Amino acid sequence: MERVLLAGATGYLGRYVAHELKRRGFLVSAVVRNASRLTAQERELYEVIEAEVTNPESLSACCEGVDAVISTVGITRQKDGLTYMDVDYQANMNLLQQAKQSGVRKFIYVSALNGDTLKHLKIFQAKEAFVEQLKSSGLDYCVIRPNGFFSDMSEIYHMAKKGRVYLFGDGKLRGNPIHGEDLAEVCIDAIAGAEKVVNVGGPQTLSQNDIAMTAFQALGKTAKVTHIPDWCRVAACKLLTTLTSSKFYGPFEFFLTVMGIEMVAPQYGRHTLKDYYLSLNEEESKASS
Ligand SMILES: NC(=O)c1ccc[n+]([C@@H]2O[C@H](COP(=O)([O-])OP(=O)(O)OC[C@H]3O[C@@H](n4cnc5c(N)ncnc54)[C@H](OP(=O)(O)O)[C@@H]3O)[C@@H](O)[C@H]2O)c1
Repeated sequence: MERVLLAGATGYLGRYVAHELKRRGFLVSAVVRNASRLTAQERELYEVIEAEVTNPESLSACCEGVDAVISTVGITRQKDGLTYMDVDYQANMNLLQQAKQSGVRKFIYVSALNGDTLKHLKIFQAKEAFVEQLKSSGLDYCVIRPNGFFSDMSEIYHMAKKGRVYLFGDGKLRGNPIHGEDLAEVCIDAIAGAEKVVNVGGPQTLSQNDIAMTAFQALGKTAKVTHIPDWCRVAACKLLTTLTSSKFYGPFEFFLTVMGIEMVAPQYGRHTLKDYYLSLNEEESKASS
């Protein structure tokens, strides 16, 4: 039976990857910095290695007996005072070092759609520097380049819940966001797959206006959308990158940039955004009752 070391199992995507690995019969070792962020059931299913991926000593021998590594580690909403270079680059380098030392067969890394063409953004400076190191590591590898996750689309749902969605420009730019469960399948297929790079998005390509409408429909609310002139997005990005530190502006720079471009990738999966929004609705109704 193949053993997979998964880094990122406490995150949105990592959780789905871990569950799908178990479902397909893999042995799973999960590197986490805080095991209490796993459920009791998850702690029983996986070999849990408590380590700081940013601290190479704590990872010592973590890849012994491992066939493949999957890393979904990266800064999204974490406020640890670390930079993308500390985490998205260096922490993944620490894992790669361990994988090389232990003779791991394959390393699967989750970057993001268009990362290779948006290297001027802080997030991609780090992610793509790691991709370059991975390519020249001598290990077999696959770089997954997914579109935005459904988890990030919840921002639009929450605006709709408050009564109004704000979009930049005319809202006609399109994207195909993907559910974590669908993307987890792609990550695991890469263990046996031959492709070195996989661009992937969800099964429906929607404009930003469509996404807002889907959120209002799921909530059963009248749609109210305000279109903010696109120059405000460009100016906000310029101001933030000039006046604040990269630790602060990095996530905004990423968000404001991708809001201004078409983000369409090859389609995969079965989960629709409408069902995802309905599930958020249900969860929130249950929590408040
Ligand atoms: N969200 C999107 O729309 C999107 C789109 C394309 C690509 N991606 C990329 O896909 C990957 C997974 O995204 P996600 O949404 O699943 O992110 P997430 O939920 O924030 O999970 C990220 C994982 O990285 C770990 N991590 C972050 N900072 C760390 C640190 N300083 N030390 C140790 N572990 C750390 C987190 O651990 P803790 O749980 O302990 O914080 C978590 O397990 C990321 O690299 C992201 O950039 C995301």
